[in-house]
Amino acid sequence: MDTIIVKGGNRLKGEVNISGAKNAAIAVIPAAILSDGVCHIDNIPNISDVFTELETLTCMGATVKMKTANSFEIDTRGLRNVAPPYELARKMRASYYFLGALAGRFGEASVPMPGGCDIGVRPIDQHIKGFEALGAKVDTTGGIINLKSDRLLGAPVYLDVVSVGATVNIMLAAVKARGMTVIENAAKEPHIVDLANFLNTMGADVRGAGTDTIKIRGVASLHGCSYALIPDQIEAGTYMAAVAGAGGEVLINNVIPKHLESISAKLEEMGAEIVEYDEAILVRRTGPLNRVNIKTMPHPGFPTDMHPQIAAVLSTANGTSIINESVWENRFKYVDELKRFGANIQVDGKIAVIEGVEKLKAAPVRATDLRAGAAMIIAGLMAEGTTEITHIHHIERGYENIIEKLRALGADICLKKDYGDVTNAAG
Ligand code: EPZ
Repeated sequence: MDTIIVKGGNRLKGEVNISGAKNAAIAVIPAAILSDGVCHIDNIPNISDVFTELETLTCMGATVKMKTANSFEIDTRGLRNVAPPYELARKMRASYYFLGALAGRFGEASVPMPGGCDIGVRPIDQHIKGFEALGAKVDTTGGIINLKSDRLLGAPVYLDVVSVGATVNIMLAAVKARGMTVIENAAKEPHIVDLANFLNTMGADVRGAGTDTIKIRGVASLHGCSYALIPDQIEAGTYMAAVAGAGGEVLINNVIPKHLESISAKLEEMGAEIVEYDEAILVRRTGPLNRVNIKTMPHPGFPTDMHPQIAAVLSTANGTSIINESVWENRFKYVDELKRFGANIQVDGKIAVIEGVEKLKAAPVRATDLRAGAAMIIAGLMAEGTTEITHIHHIERGYENIIEKLRALGADICLKKDYGDVTNAAG
């Protein structure tokens, strides 16, 4: 099993470039199924979730060409109406976006139940509610989600919970449905806006993305396009947290500072200095860390996908911090791992109470999911001694070149391959 080795204690210094947004990429790639032409998509991050989706498309008959490291051409004109392979679908949550996209193109779809991070029960009732409102019949027996319709028809859909996945799936299904779909209580995350912009660049009529109400007037066809994805809000936030935790000064390039406001606000409360530029953000932390309270919320609230990383930083803040996780019921698997570093954290239901300790001490730990893995790296950077992190495939799902990027900032971090050969050994 590959591991990441981190020797803590180095302050971070320099500049880092943020990659394209994972959660935008994995919505936009299946959306290309709806196009009658070739989609040229730039700023796609090189992460395993993206490659799983591209492989899925290829298995279904699409042609995918890598033009440069982060630029792909997707031609789905030869796509067959077949189910995505089970082995690929179960690797990631976003495989359920094939449902909306295939339904939008063929009026029917059959997709294995998705996988993804184990952060609590992940129901799909709101997706199904949306598909049914558009006139589809949905059946979920035998671990397969089957969706059938004669013709999808636009309709009002009120989401009972703010769901990113359901908002994306309904947008995908509605964009070529006949008539108007109105999604009320829609998710407002930056990747929802990015998906709407991508669909509109292909000739769709989607309005209101980024607000609670998204209106989609169905169009007969969509054409090919060229599109560049937005930068990754959570990757940027993770580097911001890493600087806050390890100390130092880093200019984080290729970001949309507006997307980072809730993270910047909390890091400032914790004692970091933040300077915003047009497309960059400077983070500096030299003094002690202050305690804060955080409640995770759908956008524009504090993102749940930043919860474990911030918990790692708060583990050495002065005083008692409280994190209230209001999106996922079980995003606390990282806590037992942080405790191995000597962190003092108690979990009660959806609340983590973090008593700051003077310092963390290195330990062997496990990445229990994607963001928990990022938290382990941050804790490793903060800790005294050498930390070994296993189960790093979770981290590879969502962070492009994280080892190289952190090394360029002065971190002592490397990948240890499972055959025992240490590449780029920590100095
Ligand atoms: C997306 O998951 C992201 N994943 C998650 O990021 C992120 O944590 C989450 O949105 C919230 O921002 C992808 O984009 C692939 P939801 P998703 O539907 O769409 C409940 C990461 O670390 N719910 O917005 O699956 C659900 O139980 C990952 O990058 C229902 O009740 O999340 C949860 O409590 C992890 N019924 C809440 O809504 C439904 O039908 C939000 O879930 C759907 C969701």
